[in-house]
Amino acid sequence: MKIVVTGASGGIGDALVKLAKRRGDYVVGISRGNSEANVHYSCDVLNIACLEKAAADVREVDGVAVVHGHGEASLWTKGVKVLTGEDFLEVFRVDVVGSFNVVKAFLPALKPTASIVLVSSTPGLLGDRYGIPYAVAKGAVIALARSLAKTLAPIRVNAVAFGPIETKWTS
Ligand SMILES: NC(=O)c1ccc[n+]([C@@H]2O[C@H](COP(=O)([O-])OP(=O)(O)OC[C@H]3O[C@@H](n4cnc5c(N)ncnc54)[C@H](OP(=O)(O)O)[C@@H]3O)[C@@H](O)[C@H]2O)c1
Repeated sequence: MKIVVTGASGGIGDALVKLAKRRGDYVVGISRGNSEANVHYSCDVLNIACLEKAAADVREVDGVAVVHGHGEASLWTKGVKVLTGEDFLEVFRVDVVGSFNVVKAFLPALKPTASIVLVSSTPGLLGDRYGIPYAVAKGAVIALARSLAKTLAPIRVNAVAFGPIETKWTS
């Protein structure tokens, strides 16, 4: 299968790239930094032209794993009194708009049997005391997945809400 992995340079993305390659998939990596994917495109997920160029290059795709995330550690120390609107917009742009951009760009390349997986997080389901913009964005990712599933069927769209996984970001 040919699969696209965003966040391919990151902890979970890199693990997925390696796992998929081990099982024989051809992996297309997307992130600003490099990855070990078979072919890599250094795109910011907010740069739709870069994503569209990658999609046009790789053509038919069986699946897209949207594993990038804002990942700014300082978010986790900000309580309600110090959070600003910009904190919300920043994480929303990368996690929600960026996920939408990836799906939109690769849509013409997706087979009708394709599967898209977006990444949410447990705070997106339960809320949190800290990292509130992150929790809100991850909640929006779930709504995005449900909406895309309705409109893109028969292409399947799901969101996975991970619990804590040890990566550079969490440490
Ligand atoms: N680790 C956990 O415990 C955990 C739990 C639940 C959910 N998650 C979610 O799982 C996903 C991956 O997490 P992780 O722990 O693997 O994080 P990570 O190691 O920090 O990786 C984040 C990835 O996102 C990419 N990225 C960030 N901003 C980007 C942008 N503007 N354009 C393109 N790529 C961008 C980074 O690549 P470049 O910087 O090279 O562009 C990197 O590959 C995130 O959505 C995170 O919220 C993680």
